[in-house]
Amino acid sequence: MTPARADGRVVLSVTLAAAAAACGDAPSFMTPASQGATRIAVLGWWLTGAALMVTALVTGFLLVALFRRSRPEAADPEARAMRWIHAGIVATVAVLAAAFLGTLFTLERSAHPPTEPQVTVEVVGHQWWWEVRYPLEGGDTAVTANEVHIPAGMPVRVRLRTADVIHSFWVPEVAGKTDLTTGQTNETWFEVDRPGTYRGQCAEYCGAQHARMGILLVVEPLETFTAWRARQALPARPAGEGGGAGLDVFQRHCAACHTVRGTARAGVVGPDLTHLADRQTLAAGTVPNTRGHLGGWIADPQAIKPGSLMPRVVLTSEELVRLLDYLQSLR
Ligand code: CUA
Repeated sequence: MTPARADGRVVLSVTLAAAAAACGDAPSFMTPASQGATRIAVLGWWLTGAALMVTALVTGFLLVALFRRSRPEAADPEARAMRWIHAGIVATVAVLAAAFLGTLFTLERSAHPPTEPQVTVEVVGHQWWWEVRYPLEGGDTAVTANEVHIPAGMPVRVRLRTADVIHSFWVPEVAGKTDLTTGQTNETWFEVDRPGTYRGQCAEYCGAQHARMGILLVVEPLETFTAWRARQALPARPAGEGGGAGLDVFQRHCAACHTVRGTARAGVVGPDLTHLADRQTLAAGTVPNTRGHLGGWIADPQAIKPGSLMPRVVLTSEELVRLLDYLQSLR
């Protein structure tokens, strides 16, 4: 095999491997988990089918035009050619009109939930994380970050706004994208029957770490959801056995930006950390929420998410251990 061909094979296999990897875990709108997403997927298949058909037809006509000998005996070849051109224009307009109407129909059918939602969640976009709030009866609010929990089998209203630039909330398996637009509140809704965890992603370029602005949608049975939400509304448990020292480190180094409800200072720059240990990921889906990753994130966030507002926190190793003990106790 010549070097050029070998290179070509390497490029091809690397490309195929990358494509396969990209398809592996990445959520796709083609594997819908809700009725709304199913409508979008069906529309997607129709549009793909139409695009393939048009490509095949155009390629066919091109090939015929290339290889067919001209037939001088044909009567009035110019008029014949014009008829084909007119037919092409009519077919193009018809295909585009059908795609447009199909899209409008899908949008209209997905616009409103079948019944009035009993659960509302507010999602606020920040560079580059998601604040998640549940207004409760009696004026309380359950607050968390980067993880939206909803009950299975009932419609949920999602209110979206932004604290800075435009973001877009997208959980491909569950619903279409909805933008979080500066100066207004947008609304969408979800209804997912099958409990599970669905990954979402900011879908509007919003700066350096746009790609690391992930979100998890956790769909669970109603009782599990209600218990979870009630727990998120509670203040943090008092720092337990030996936790006091960690709380002290937190107050000195972290509380200017972060809130742990139930403690003295309450910063609002970064995510609310009241029940941090309940969450599955850190830094908006960037790393799993383990002690090692949490330590790495505190020690050098800029290595994990360059440009993030989280600065390096300079701590002694003893302070870091105490802080980790404290943060991991926040359930
Ligand atoms: Cu937020 Cu892209």
